[in-house]
Amino acid sequence: MTSYTVTVEPLGREVECAEGQTILDACLRNGVWLPHSCTHGTCATCKAEVLDGDVDHGASSAFALMDFERDEGKLLPCCATPRSDVVIEADIDVDESIEVFPVQDYTATVVELSDIAEQTRRLVVELDRDIGFNAGQYLKFTVPAADGKPSVDRTWSIGSAPGESRRLEFHVRRVPGGRGTDDWVFGSLAVGDQVAVSGPYGRFVLHTADDRHAILVGGGTGTAPLKSMVLHALEADAYAGPLTLYAGGRTRAWLYDVDVFRRLAKEHPDRFTYRPCLSEETADDVAASGDDPAAYAYGTVTDVLAEDHETLTGCAGYLCGPPAMVEAALRTMMGKRLFPRDIHREDFFNEADKAAGGVKSPLIKR
Ligand SMILES: Cc1cc2nc3c(=O)[nH]c(=O)nc-3n(C[C@H](O)[C@H](O)[C@H](O)COP(=O)(O)OP(=O)(O)OC[C@H]3O[C@@H](n4cnc5c(N)ncnc54)[C@H](O)[C@@H]3O)c2cc1C
Ligand code: FES
Repeated sequence: MTSYTVTVEPLGREVECAEGQTILDACLRNGVWLPHSCTHGTCATCKAEVLDGDVDHGASSAFALMDFERDEGKLLPCCATPRSDVVIEADIDVDESIEVFPVQDYTATVVELSDIAEQTRRLVVELDRDIGFNAGQYLKFTVPAADGKPSVDRTWSIGSAPGESRRLEFHVRRVPGGRGTDDWVFGSLAVGDQVAVSGPYGRFVLHTADDRHAILVGGGTGTAPLKSMVLHALEADAYAGPLTLYAGGRTRAWLYDVDVFRRLAKEHPDRFTYRPCLSEETADDVAASGDDPAAYAYGTVTDVLAEDHETLTGCAGYLCGPPAMVEAALRTMMGKRLFPRDIHREDFFNEADKAAGGVKSPLIKR
């Protein structure tokens, strides 16, 4: 099979890239870490420059990589495949305290599939061998071909802590008409099935060398990577600063793992605060059902975050979930005097976002 040499500057590292393989995939599998987030041409995080050689831009979205940028020699390594030996220059801002785990393929057996909230399932898999990952990273699942539709890849964040290296948990929200969720996780997938996965991917990780107050904001299943971070921070004593988790749902029925987070808050009162936020239920609704209204906050995660803090100076932000929520929370944090460099984000872009062109004007570098 034909392969090309990709040289990554300023590292001067060389990797072999098979014909048809993306440059990002070749790098991540060979332990050369390049910045990336969505891995499907939508978020623009991986944007780099071709210094020499030819690439095929593949499925890079028209907004994440505009025509004039292509003319200037820019590329998205997550979509681009080499057409010759190439030299690229990437903006590699490595945090030395974060370990790099090369991407590998695994076979996973489904051991649990349960409904945990409205339109939300917990998927637990057992891998064929141990995996190393940082709290906050994700895996790619191969959704098998079915009903005449081809196999596709879908990405879900790991919700369990890195200390557990074989049995991994995921939280999946059903998207109507979605290949990976509606058709598969909420359709044909069953306990005992074997599935192909690869990983770990992503730069949305808990920065364990930091000790600032970590403000974690998750909408829906955006709570998944934040749960991994909270568990890792508290149970493995991996983070020196306090953490506050804002987990948003429309009503109590959309929230999950409330008991887990309440228990952690009780066990670590000086280190962890849990703020479950209800955007479509009021304190009166909660009281009327016999539940304690003081146990919840009311409004979107962004509303509650804004009310809770006069300023966020000195904190570190971690935002995750639907792109609109992430963008709103980002603006709120910046309005509370947190700088973009202090905010980490993971946008749950899906195929519709990709088809719509992806990120248009990123407020901050991802
Ligand atoms: C880094 C990352 C981590 C993520 N982690 C999680 C997680 O932990 N939990 C979670 O629930 N989700 C997560 N997501 C989102 C997840 O990857 C999927 O996008 C989501 O689960 C929907 O997948 P699906 O296959 O069901 O839907 P898709 O098949 O992607 O479809 C989504 C929607 O787009 C429509 N659509 C499909 N194709 C097109 C097209 N060509 N044009 C227009 N519309 C189209 C569909 O009808 C549907 O309404 C994450 C995303 C990213 C990028
Ligand atoms: S990682 Fe390449 S565009 Fe998102």
